[in-house]
Amino acid sequence: MCGIVGFVGYEGDALPFLLEGLKRLEYRGYDSAGIALAQPGRIAVSKAQGKLAVLEQSLQSMPQGIPCGIGHTRWATHGRPTDENAHPHTDCQGVIAVAHNGIIENFQELRDELEASGHQFRSETDTEVIPHLLEVYGGADDLVAAVRQAEKRLKGAYAFLAISAQKPDIIVAVRRSSPLVVGLGEGVNYVASDVSAFLAHTRQAQVLENGDLAVISPGRIQVTDAHGHKRNPKTLTVDWDIRQAERGGYEHFMLKEIMEQPDVWSDCLLSRIHEDKVVVGEMGLTAKLLEGIHRIQVVAAGTAYHAGLVGKALIERLARVPVDVSVASEFRYQEPVLDPGTLVMAISQSGETADTLASMHMAQDEGFPVYSIVNTVGSTLARDSNYVGYTHAGPEIAVASTKAYTTQLLVLTMVALALAENRGRARPDLVRSLLALPKAGQKVLEDLEHIQEMAARLAEHSDVFYIGRGIDYALAMEGQLKIKEIAYIHAEAYAAGEMKHGTLALIEEGTPVVAIVTERAVAEKSISNILEVKARGAEVWAILDNKLGRRVPVDHVLPVPVPDPLLVPVLAALPLQLLAYWTAVTRGQDVDQPRNLAKSVTVE
Ligand code: AGP
Repeated sequence: MCGIVGFVGYEGDALPFLLEGLKRLEYRGYDSAGIALAQPGRIAVSKAQGKLAVLEQSLQSMPQGIPCGIGHTRWATHGRPTDENAHPHTDCQGVIAVAHNGIIENFQELRDELEASGHQFRSETDTEVIPHLLEVYGGADDLVAAVRQAEKRLKGAYAFLAISAQKPDIIVAVRRSSPLVVGLGEGVNYVASDVSAFLAHTRQAQVLENGDLAVISPGRIQVTDAHGHKRNPKTLTVDWDIRQAERGGYEHFMLKEIMEQPDVWSDCLLSRIHEDKVVVGEMGLTAKLLEGIHRIQVVAAGTAYHAGLVGKALIERLARVPVDVSVASEFRYQEPVLDPGTLVMAISQSGETADTLASMHMAQDEGFPVYSIVNTVGSTLARDSNYVGYTHAGPEIAVASTKAYTTQLLVLTMVALALAENRGRARPDLVRSLLALPKAGQKVLEDLEHIQEMAARLAEHSDVFYIGRGIDYALAMEGQLKIKEIAYIHAEAYAAGEMKHGTLALIEEGTPVVAIVTERAVAEKSISNILEVKARGAEVWAILDNKLGRRVPVDHVLPVPVPDPLLVPVLAALPLQLLAYWTAVTRGQDVDQPRNLAKSVTVE
């Protein structure tokens, strides 16, 4: 996600604070950055693609001693990482500047309207509609009134800061959903996406709530809520150190990224569901492409490959389109035979995994179109594939993938539902139920408060089995990878029905087994497999459909709600991720940067 900072003082120089504040937000991941100063008469803007070191080169030309300004680090969502797309963005006259975080869902219709009335756009971003709207509503003369007017036109999940060269002693801040927090100083006030940007200057903070509009001046903060009523936010004293602040108070980025998944799922679903249908265009697909698909070949690596295994089950069951799933490092050397009408689907968080890129280029060389499901805008995979659907998970800092995996599952679910509809097998009930997943995920996370003790038991072992049937087997594949890569415990995923064909010989007193039972159609079979391992002394941790209750004789129960077995993978992933996380913490491992591993494997 993007990083936003703001500084407004009676005197002083905003520029050094803004640059330092952006450096404090670098951990959030970004691909361009910029700063705007409320120089009386005309905004001064400097912005550049790349890291802050690039931006710093251009700051020498900025005016000194301007005590009001905003800064931004951009994680691209709409529009590639370029100088023009970097924030802040200005209006036609260059007297208003805006820095934004989040997604403006209806930006295209607003842009069409503004361009039709003569506004000149310089970027591909959704953000740029904001300063032009402020210009339309008289922002140069009354920035606050203009923000109130413009905000009514915006749809989406976002936060933004606005400044005006005609009123260079205020910053107007709006929070619709992306975080914003105000820092209280002496004769100066700050505002940022999180406290780490200003913690070196003040520990007194006021958190803005969804719907708040704040007018920030050097000596005063005036906040009104979504209904325009005055609100007096509580002033908090932040006792985190900088590192804790960067992780939102969590011990590790991985835990932060696990816990923020319900919010991230909302971002991934945003603007993609309308009247119980998946909006095909928002998935980076076309109806014509869907009609022409007779087979799908998934290529991916690691966790993304495991997402593809779940995607296979969803697409085949819902759309009856056959799906093959290959590990990219195998696919590229297998001389695969692809049938005419095959769509190659490349799944990747980074969009830079060498084997996945090679597989894409090989398929394209043979004339097959590639649809990529990717998190990183502007990545090689996103640029080179024929079609692209973004996961909108925001930067994933921890090496072990969590929120990227579950948003890959959400995109695959929406693709499966879109394909099903295209084939006269619409499931409006499932489409509707997708919107309830973020809330259901929040509840699952809240109900897992005992998982630390369960993980402490698991941490005593050096080998563990993960078993399941159908989609539960695909989930087991992801569960075993998580505990291997961060807790360094050897793990193996096994089709539960296959255990008796040999592997059962390894089960003895105390052997740990993690069983996943959310597939209702085969639940009784999975329970029989649990009884088989229990009878031979296994200790069983079960991620269990919460409707099965205590009918299943296991040692540790991790219940999940099953709105529909086809929608449960993202919910069942949460206990799998937390079990691995707390096991690794118990064993004292470096959770965010596990040994021998890289976040993106850009080599073969
Ligand atoms: C996942 O926890 C691992 N870090 C790793 O398997 C990763 O999923 C794999 O390297 C693929 O990366 P990508 O999604 O960026 O292509």
